[in-house]
Amino acid sequence: MKILCEKDYRSMSKRAASIIAAQIVSHPKSILGLATGSSPIGTYQTLIEWYHQGYLDFSEVHAVNLDEYKGLTPHNPQSYAYFMRENLFDQINIKAENTHIPNGMAVDEEAECIRYDNIIDQLGGIDLQLLGIGHNGHIGFNEPAEVFEKDTHCISLSESTIAANSRLFEQIEEVPRFAYTMGIRPIMQAKKILIIASGSAKAEIVRKAFCEAVTPSVPASILQLHPDVTLVADADALKDLGDGCRKGCCD
Ligand code: F6R
Repeated sequence: MKILCEKDYRSMSKRAASIIAAQIVSHPKSILGLATGSSPIGTYQTLIEWYHQGYLDFSEVHAVNLDEYKGLTPHNPQSYAYFMRENLFDQINIKAENTHIPNGMAVDEEAECIRYDNIIDQLGGIDLQLLGIGHNGHIGFNEPAEVFEKDTHCISLSESTIAANSRLFEQIEEVPRFAYTMGIRPIMQAKKILIIASGSAKAEIVRKAFCEAVTPSVPASILQLHPDVTLVADADALKDLGDGCRKGCCD
């Protein structure tokens, strides 16, 4: 695993965007696995800038998102479908039909999970997966559990995730209690994984995930077993990493 230390959120975002840009330039038909949340906003803004400057072309790129709240329509401003349109898709030349996200309004939960896994499989898997990390170590909405759950599933969100995500809602009661998430299998089968983390609030979980044992109680820890993972983080998020784990980053 490669750890790249940047001084702040802005430079973390630029570094992450450079890695995604390199992927698109070298493989214009890339399948990108994408995340929502606060962490990737700056990365997406940088990609948008480079697109407007003529450096990037998304016309043949496909995007598969990690997750979506159950019960929110794609037009609900709190939905992840809306977030992706606002923060990326509507500002670049990606084709709407090449963007995929679980359908939060699906009537048949099981059929929706199968449909989403089939989309990923039919695309041939993910070339580059972008991830954030939850305060409890979740990736996508793969919450701490007894086992790693491999396929797309509908999950009951943990209290800590509901509390963390309530900042984006007017009241905590409005945060959906369930969400669809891509499972661990397509994430771990991605050819490359790029995980970003910013701020001291992420320092403890970054240490647990990447310097301690692999365990489903810290889902991100499984990334230690992937052959091509890059963690791009700012100094605050890396501050609790032991010397053995830092391997010269931030020097
Ligand atoms: C969102 C997602 C989540 C977030 C995580 C961190 O699509 O998959 O795992 O990456 O909750 O969220 P932020 O970046 O808001 O701290």
